[in-house]
Amino acid sequence: MGEKIRLDKLLSNMGKGSRSEMKDALRFGGVKVNGVTVRTGKEKVDPEKDEILYKGIQVVYVKHVYLILNKPDGYISATEDKFHKTVLELISSDFDHYELFPVGRLDIDTEGLLIITNDGELAHNLLAPKKHVPKTYRAIINGPLGDLAIKQFEEGISLDDGYKCKPAELEIISTSKSESEVKLTIHEGKFHQVKRMFEAIDLKVTYLQRIKMNGLSLPDDLPVGEFRPLTEEEFVALTQGIDL
Ligand code: URA
Repeated sequence: MGEKIRLDKLLSNMGKGSRSEMKDALRFGGVKVNGVTVRTGKEKVDPEKDEILYKGIQVVYVKHVYLILNKPDGYISATEDKFHKTVLELISSDFDHYELFPVGRLDIDTEGLLIITNDGELAHNLLAPKKHVPKTYRAIINGPLGDLAIKQFEEGISLDDGYKCKPAELEIISTSKSESEVKLTIHEGKFHQVKRMFEAIDLKVTYLQRIKMNGLSLPDDLPVGEFRPLTEEEFVALTQGIDL
């Protein structure tokens, strides 16, 4: 048997209106559970088993929401903050009734792929250090890079606090005396990890964008600052690590 939930909460979670609007709808006989009119929101229902009609239309229960956001510079990866704008401010109010949070953190100035969900288990599976979920970043670096750097990243960079990183794959897209563009795939998520890895070889990241998490790539057609629900294929790519 599924988890039971208060009828007024379920209806408002499915976007039918506020709890007080639901109270009125119930009072006026607008809600039926398994064919019987129910007038109190306190009644608990099993959304996976009970048939719930709201104004004659079946309520389809969606427990978890999975959104992909192309995070812009200037937003912090938190649900609330006194001083900065948060990534949740970029999500439309249609999703207000879900308790959404970002899966992990991107720095305030990092852009790119960020998953927003209310599924704690999914977040754990993607973030737990033991799972080694790969994350790929595109970065602009303030100097030249070559085979030596590729080897250093492959062997494990030692950070300023002495932590030795797991092997990471560095791909150099372009390089010159003053600037390089790279893709870097890491399998862990230490604080400011990418920036600190380059600092360890005396270079600075001047732009950072996450472009992939597990099998899911940042879609080309998702503008910076915008979000949309994941498609089923994208969900599989994210959770199973299978490239699309
Ligand atoms: N590494 C960083 O340094 N910053 C991020 O935002 C993500 C990874």
